[in-house]
Amino acid sequence: MPPANPFYNSLPAFHARLLTARRILALCGAGLSASSGLPTFRGAGGYWRNHEATALATPEAFAADPGLVWLFYAYRRHMALGARPNAGHRALAELARKGRGRGKGQGEVDFLCLSQNVDGLHQRAGHDAERLRLLHGSLFDLKCHRCDWVERGNFDDPLCDSLRAASEDVGLERLLDPKEELAGIPREELPHCPKCKIGLQRPGVVWFGESLDAEMLREVDRWIDEDEVDVVLVIGTSAVVQPAAGYVYEAQGPGTSIVTVNLDAENVEALAELGPRDFAFAGDAAELLPKLLEPVIGRMKEDGTFGAEE
Ligand code: OAD
Repeated sequence: MPPANPFYNSLPAFHARLLTARRILALCGAGLSASSGLPTFRGAGGYWRNHEATALATPEAFAADPGLVWLFYAYRRHMALGARPNAGHRALAELARKGRGRGKGQGEVDFLCLSQNVDGLHQRAGHDAERLRLLHGSLFDLKCHRCDWVERGNFDDPLCDSLRAASEDVGLERLLDPKEELAGIPREELPHCPKCKIGLQRPGVVWFGESLDAEMLREVDRWIDEDEVDVVLVIGTSAVVQPAAGYVYEAQGPGTSIVTVNLDAENVEALAELGPRDFAFAGDAAELLPKLLEPVIGRMKEDGTFGAEE
């Protein structure tokens, strides 16, 4: 069956749609950071040693072996710190900048970006915090697993001496090789909460089975309910984890275009689900986003910034 929109992957057709859009929502996932060198969760690369990455992202895994879970997150912190935001992150940050401070009803863009990514690359690309909601928290926030202590923006690498193995590039190969036995890290050697002194510090990310920040969810709902959302960009995500994935449908009104930007956007099932206003662009989000958003953010210049050529 042909896709409901015969122009589903036409750049000019999408540009025409974008130019009429006043309110744009994005839902981003790990695929956005793939070309910055960070692995996605599902499919190839979704393993750390011989553990599924998703199986380590649970409170149960932390309770059973906090040292192992901390090594996984210490490694992810180290990788994220070494990665650079790509042109996709920068294009979204520019879209956020274009909308900033302008009132409603002047043909301007009101953009909100929801990201499931915890790697800090949106922020490092200069994405306005007002227009960014980190649904799953941040690798660089720390919290206590028992009390309400939180520390935001801790970029220490290594975080502590016992997690040094995840940060020393020389030894990383051994850490990542499942055939190499890992020495367990005793609980006493992991960072403890400075407030209650009993609990362990843990990454400030949302694990499976945990709730997302309630106030943040209310803010997102308020933004969505304010007015019709014209375009929903679904970028580099398998869109299977709730409640994040549900926002795509929550934001969908009768005139909304759902626009998928994903390496896998043209698989048969995905195309079969496209509605008459929807688009799907298959490829690397870092390459596609600057081109897709060009009518609003301007052409990407050689130095990676956007706007009219001097
Ligand atoms: P997934 O690993 O589930 O999906 C990544 C998606 O990105 C896949 O659909 C790929 O086809 C696509 N992809 C890969 N490389 C790409 C590229 N260069 N350009 C565009 N697309 C690309 O990651 P998420 O959807 O982010 O949650 O996973 C959602 C949540 O599940 C994560 O936030 C995490 C995870 O478990 C928690 O930890 C709570």
